[in-house]
Amino acid sequence: MPTLSKMTCVEDFRMLAQRRVPRMFYDYADSGSWTEGTYRSNETDLQKIKFRQRVAVNIEHRSLRSTLLGEDVAMPVAIAPTGLTGMQHADGEILGAKAAERFGIPFTLSTMSVCSIEDIAAHTSKPFWFQLYVMRDRDFIGRLIDRAKAAGCSALVVTLDLQVLGQRHKDIKNGLSTPPKPTLLNLINLATKPRWCMNMLRTPRRTFGNIVGHAKGVGDLSSLSSWTAEQFDPALNWNDLEWIKKRWGGKIILKGVMDAQDARHAVDSGADALIVSNHGGRQLDGAPSSISALPHIADAVGDQIEVLMDGGIRSGQDVLRAVALGAHGTLVGRAFLYALGAMGEEGVYRCLQLIANELDISMAFCGRTRIQDVDRSILLHPDQFD
Ligand SMILES: Cc1cc2nc3c(=O)[nH]c(=O)nc-3n(C[C@H](O)[C@H](O)[C@H](O)COP(=O)(O)O)c2cc1C
Repeated sequence: MPTLSKMTCVEDFRMLAQRRVPRMFYDYADSGSWTEGTYRSNETDLQKIKFRQRVAVNIEHRSLRSTLLGEDVAMPVAIAPTGLTGMQHADGEILGAKAAERFGIPFTLSTMSVCSIEDIAAHTSKPFWFQLYVMRDRDFIGRLIDRAKAAGCSALVVTLDLQVLGQRHKDIKNGLSTPPKPTLLNLINLATKPRWCMNMLRTPRRTFGNIVGHAKGVGDLSSLSSWTAEQFDPALNWNDLEWIKKRWGGKIILKGVMDAQDARHAVDSGADALIVSNHGGRQLDGAPSSISALPHIADAVGDQIEVLMDGGIRSGQDVLRAVALGAHGTLVGRAFLYALGAMGEEGVYRCLQLIANELDISMAFCGRTRIQDVDRSILLHPDQFD
């Protein structure tokens, strides 16, 4: 029986999640679009980056403390928004938000979450970030923004890279749905996940909590799935940010920027931050890895806007690589989901501890004591993505 103290890296959580989470939801997390080339390169490109090890530097007193959009954080990491997180583990978004709050980093709730905005607000005491998908039904989007505001969310993360949907083969083959359809194959698979089933039976939260009861024309689950697929708005453009900004009135983070020219548009739009992200390799297969896009974008915008990055972060060493190449902070998607699916809230907390420890020790090996002092000079080939 695996215990928390025996979990020593993100990969341990991934392997345990694979055993504990029903296949269709594990596959939903652990997959990318089409050939999964971009999904894989997010991780492999990070691995290629080598550090300059330094010795005999006084590294006794160290700190990872930083800020993200002006908020104090224990390390420069936030939890990325992920849809259907409440299917990796019952009440998954609540558990993730609680672990993030205890650890001292921001949690981002997805539009496509199982637990609702109000659920998260009721179970936490610090503000969280809310991620917005811009859908065709602008009344609904306006109301979502108002709900995030009423819940005290401290930033709105507007995702720009889901106007159309990349295809993940496994989701189609598995017939991904929430809750899972009672097909014979699903029932056989569920029978091997008693812990997941028991937890799921105890919670009422089993569908898209932000949408059901709030969007017009969504009655049953079949209308819900067709509604969401039809709702992502291919007409979304930079002008839409005007009314979103106005309605929200708070800090805005633009997510899904992979191009220096788009990054300059993001600055012009008045956003407070952008996230260099290819959606974890789930959208444009053939796009570059996030880490290889990061230095160009960081150079293009300088310090006019906070540059964050996600995609492939599986360790503290990866966080250090991203910070060295110009990220003010990083977000973790799958590392969080694996820990949650494997061991719930305590798994997420432990995973964050592991990442922080890896980051701290690796930073020390590079001869730095403060995360703010990390820059390209800690890398052996800082220009490898030029
Ligand atoms: C299962 C899953 C669901 C996701 N759902 C969303 C979402 O609802 N909204 C969003 O902006 N990004 C979503 N993403 C993308 C993540 O926010 C993030 O960009 C990505 O996971 C980062 O890569 P990583 O998983 O390698 O850390 C999702 C990613 C995964 C793996």
